Amino acid sequence: MKRIPLFALLASLCALLFCSACGERPVVTSPDGRITLSVAADADGPTWSVEVDGEPLLLPSRLGVETREALIAGTQIASVRHSSFDEEWTQPWGENKLVRNHCNEMTVTLRGAGDVALTLRARAFDDGVAFRYEWSVAGCDTLAVTDELTEFRFADEPGTLSWSIPGNFETYELQYRELPVAEVADANTPFTFRTAAGLYGSVHEAALYDYPEMVLRRDSAGVLKADLAPLPDGVKAYVPATFTTPWRTVQIGRRAVDLINSALILNLNEPSKIADTSWITPQKYVGVWWGMHLGTQVWTMGPRHGATTANALRHIDFAADNNIQGVLFEGWNQGWENWGGNQHFDYVEPYADFDLERIAAYARERGVELWMHAETGGNIPEFERQLEAAMQRYAELGIRTLKTGYAGGFKGGYLHHSQYGVQHYQRVVETAARYGIMLDVHEPIKETGIRRTWPNMMTREGARGMEWNAWSEGNSAEYLCMLPFVRLLSGPMDYTPGIFDIDYSRAKADKGRIEWNGPNGDCCIKTTLARQIANWVIIYSPLQMAADLIENYEGHPAFRFFRDFDADCDWSEALQGEIGDYIVVARRAGERFFLGAGTNGEARTLTQPLGFLQPGVRYTATIYADAADSAANPEAYRIEERTVTAADTLEIVMSARGGQAVTFLPQHE
Ligand code: NOJ
Ligand code: CA
Repeated sequence: MKRIPLFALLASLCALLFCSACGERPVVTSPDGRITLSVAADADGPTWSVEVDGEPLLLPSRLGVETREALIAGTQIASVRHSSFDEEWTQPWGENKLVRNHCNEMTVTLRGAGDVALTLRARAFDDGVAFRYEWSVAGCDTLAVTDELTEFRFADEPGTLSWSIPGNFETYELQYRELPVAEVADANTPFTFRTAAGLYGSVHEAALYDYPEMVLRRDSAGVLKADLAPLPDGVKAYVPATFTTPWRTVQIGRRAVDLINSALILNLNEPSKIADTSWITPQKYVGVWWGMHLGTQVWTMGPRHGATTANALRHIDFAADNNIQGVLFEGWNQGWENWGGNQHFDYVEPYADFDLERIAAYARERGVELWMHAETGGNIPEFERQLEAAMQRYAELGIRTLKTGYAGGFKGGYLHHSQYGVQHYQRVVETAARYGIMLDVHEPIKETGIRRTWPNMMTREGARGMEWNAWSEGNSAEYLCMLPFVRLLSGPMDYTPGIFDIDYSRAKADKGRIEWNGPNGDCCIKTTLARQIANWVIIYSPLQMAADLIENYEGHPAFRFFRDFDADCDWSEALQGEIGDYIVVARRAGERFFLGAGTNGEARTLTQPLGFLQPGVRYTATIYADAADSAANPEAYRIEERTVTAADTLEIVMSARGGQAVTFLPQHE
């Protein structure tokens, strides 16, 4: 392969040849004129900077990509082109089915010497900025990326507060830290921040394909910069000589909830590659799941096996009777004995006590969808070997949704979030699309908006979900008030909300399984029951689970919320909130509206105008609220019914660790 020196003596000559605007900093400005991204280049390479309302947010920060073959950076701006977009597009499902893409674009071509031309494509929206690298290197087929030089030099690091999980290439199931940017050594994205002037923002990436994930890491010079997950040989990625990287994004808002309402990440992804998306449908589901995490059931065959035929039929009946479209089974397939060992699962053969054909036929008869689960334990080669056959079998059985899992280290020393991982997760998405299968991925690669291009990629985990409440110190109410402003900015999450049996120690004790009550005997779910209901609205997922054991829902008055709820929403808005403190979200599905509100460890009363409802329509509002004693007795709740219109205001009274959920059903329904 040819080695191309970029910083060569010819640089200044190239400047004369190419640059008609030497010394100028090309700028792209958001349509509302408030946000600018500018680019500059000198002998040290290019830089980018961001200003909001004339104030610096990011100071000139270095750009470029180092490969073994060439430094892809450029010392001279060769050309600049500007264009604009203002279009509306629709998606088959999403928080909002109608999305506006309104931005200005600038493409800056940089040259140094040799054959490397780097194009920076930058966009400025009213809700943030983004750029990506595009290059074409002559004289070789493949480039070995050794480092990405992108820096994020916050103008006021001590005065800017941030919320993030640590930078980790294997897992996102970590606790949030609230830290001044100056104290952040490394962080995964979304990396959410608030400046001293009260401006909110979040660093992330969009359209991650064929490249490792980016985390932010402080380098030896003390600068926060991109760090890419490496392959086992230390190289970050092997890419074609002509390549386009994922977008580097900074969402920006004046209110914390603006970040949630931003569609910037989706707008930076390509339209759907699936021509007919009519088979891709949001669903509510229940499953044989929570019992395994409580330890009262197991994935393997034996007396406590969860996925048995009898249990399956019982769950199908429950779903059919409660307006729930899907039922998930974990531990249905052979190989769970190997989990944590050689990680060998069979993705087609059921256990002998799970009569798959009979269960599938019964589900069809009752109009319920069967969901299968495929835990890989991280054994990617084995899963890929069986992938095609497994998908084919699921499609034959009428199965349209697959939950996958990667609980275990990848074989061969590959990291979950490396280029190898990104390529694998994508292979599964595209294979599933060919068989008409929707995906729910646990231990995933982070969402970067690819759901727009591959709308069968419905939801994923990618943060500490409900399972942590069963066998660890659990997820605090404060954590749940951070989640919407950090992880959820990237896209839907299969958190698996809605545990009604808040003090599950009784369930464990009943079954003689009390060993999991937490290291300090603290138990169990860390919120009130009303907040568990509100999470069905707050935590957006087109595949939304009622995660508790179905016996805890049977006959429970508050389960009416989930029966009335519709996971296929058309419109959403985060109405008010502060990171780590509280959140209020409203969604519309057809003519029905849903509202979810939650608070942290503090009791809180919020005033919420109902102006989002259709004007002139009378709604029956059913309010699922904390009771007076919910702080001490989190299973206490009250249900209240009222007639409301868009002209009314709701007073949302929440206990410490509490919440409130409301359904608004039009009275003419
Ligand atoms: C971890 C997943 O997040 C959880 O949902 C699943 O039940 C277990 N792995 C077993 O696959
Ligand atoms: Ca998990």
